[in-house]
Amino acid sequence: MRIQFKIFRFDPEHDTEPYYKTYTVEADEGERVLDCLNRIRWEQDGTLSLRMSCAHGVCGSDAMRIDGRCALACRKLVRDLEGDEVLIEPLPTFTVLKDLVVDLTPFFEKVDMVRPYLIASDPPEKERLQSHEDNLKMEEAIRCILCACCVGQCPVSNENEKFLGPAPLVQAFRRIFDSRDEAREERLRQLDYPDGVWACVNHFECTRVCPKEIPVTRSINTMKREIKKLE
Ligand code: SF4
Ligand code: SF4
Ligand code: FES
Repeated sequence: MRIQFKIFRFDPEHDTEPYYKTYTVEADEGERVLDCLNRIRWEQDGTLSLRMSCAHGVCGSDAMRIDGRCALACRKLVRDLEGDEVLIEPLPTFTVLKDLVVDLTPFFEKVDMVRPYLIASDPPEKERLQSHEDNLKMEEAIRCILCACCVGQCPVSNENEKFLGPAPLVQAFRRIFDSRDEAREERLRQLDYPDGVWACVNHFECTRVCPKEIPVTRSINTMKREIKKLE
């Protein structure tokens, strides 16, 4: 089938304003949007820039906005596109470095703020054991690949750059509900401020776009309840 890709273009070294350029691609229904974009790069326009690595929904690097919804280009099939023209744009919220490549530095700075690593006393002689039951409490959050789709889609993140944001909150959830972590209360108190967990107003957009089907909003609300218990 023949599809038109209307793609956001901006090269700050040469362009004063962003613009859209349309490319036509012959694609099979089972191909992914990423396959089409790569074909555009390789066969039509080598100046088009985008990030990708694994091409299998693991690295999280090809997050972009496809027809107005944040998604991984390698997980979006041609057969699931609506209409003959597809709008491809960079992730909202972030500064565009070139075309579909955005500056994720503020995103990873916020992830760092929640200390996304185990905080525990001296290492045991063998491994730190965890029961299957305890592991299930963090099992969904572990799936996060830090693609930032949730942040790009979140209306609050788009309006308030100070909001910690859904993905950093998922990272916090993962450690708060890790039975081996010893900083649970400290971590909860760290999120207890207006631009922390309380800035989330339950739009559920993060949950809808998460390619790993993490219940982001439910996780945020669970942490709100745990913070309340500390009062
Ligand atoms: S549920 Fe919260 S974090 Fe998710 S999109 Fe809505 S406001 Fe943003
Ligand atoms: S919570 Fe989901 S959408 Fe957000 S960064 Fe993690 S995997 Fe991506
Ligand atoms: S390229 Fe790695 S998730 Fe899509």
